[in-house]
Amino acid sequence: MKQASTFSQLKHDGIKISMLTCYDYPSAKIQDACGIDVIFVGDSLATNVLGYAHQNDLSLEEMRHHVRAVARGVERSYLLADIPFAASSSLASIMDAADQLRQDGVDGVKVEGFKPEVFEALAQSEVDGWAHLGFTPQLIEKPSMQAKDDESAERLVDECLKLEAAGAVGVILELVPGLVAQRVSQALKIPVIGIGAGLHCDGQVQVWHDLIGLETRVYKHAFRQCDAHAAQTEAVKAYIRLIAD
Ligand code: KIV
Ligand code: NA
Repeated sequence: MKQASTFSQLKHDGIKISMLTCYDYPSAKIQDACGIDVIFVGDSLATNVLGYAHQNDLSLEEMRHHVRAVARGVERSYLLADIPFAASSSLASIMDAADQLRQDGVDGVKVEGFKPEVFEALAQSEVDGWAHLGFTPQLIEKPSMQAKDDESAERLVDECLKLEAAGAVGVILELVPGLVAQRVSQALKIPVIGIGAGLHCDGQVQVWHDLIGLETRVYKHAFRQCDAHAAQTEAVKAYIRLIAD
């Protein structure tokens, strides 16, 4: 198992960190075998796999169920999971969820928003704390670019520095201008992992469905590498034809 300090070292050495969301055992085995640095059970599990309308519909029990499945497929990668919105109402509830997810096999948990007290508490626990700023789907309704003007960019840099000081081991930046994300990456010692935040972060995170094309939608920031939707559709059609004759 990798440790969070490995990632600060990779950053220091200028080696990009790869992170991918993952929601099940077979995908975890593929990602782990390929050498993905961080396998991340995001709360996008809710919309991407469970068919809910919103991430915030996910329960902690549902998250734990999928984390255990993914954990069974991980041998080498670092395992990270989101603290679901449903478990985020207080510091005590976040710490309790973090402890349960640790029992399920995670190395770290990701917490959205500027909550230094959470990272101070996680730093004293057995679970690493990863921050998530910029566009935070649990807290901001519509996806939109964040930190666009100087004042909000300044605030973002300041909040990231404070979360690092509080004990966060990494930061995810979502939908932030590339130059701002680059500034944050340069200001911090801990790795900054971007999505829709340009190419000058210390690493990238992608949603599995977007990478393999499991949905027909294509986001601007997606690194789509294949068309799993078309491949699966073709397989089902071929099967129907095959048993028809
Ligand atoms: O749940 C998720 O997919 C995320 C993104 C940052 C990748 O949190
Ligand atoms: Na998430």
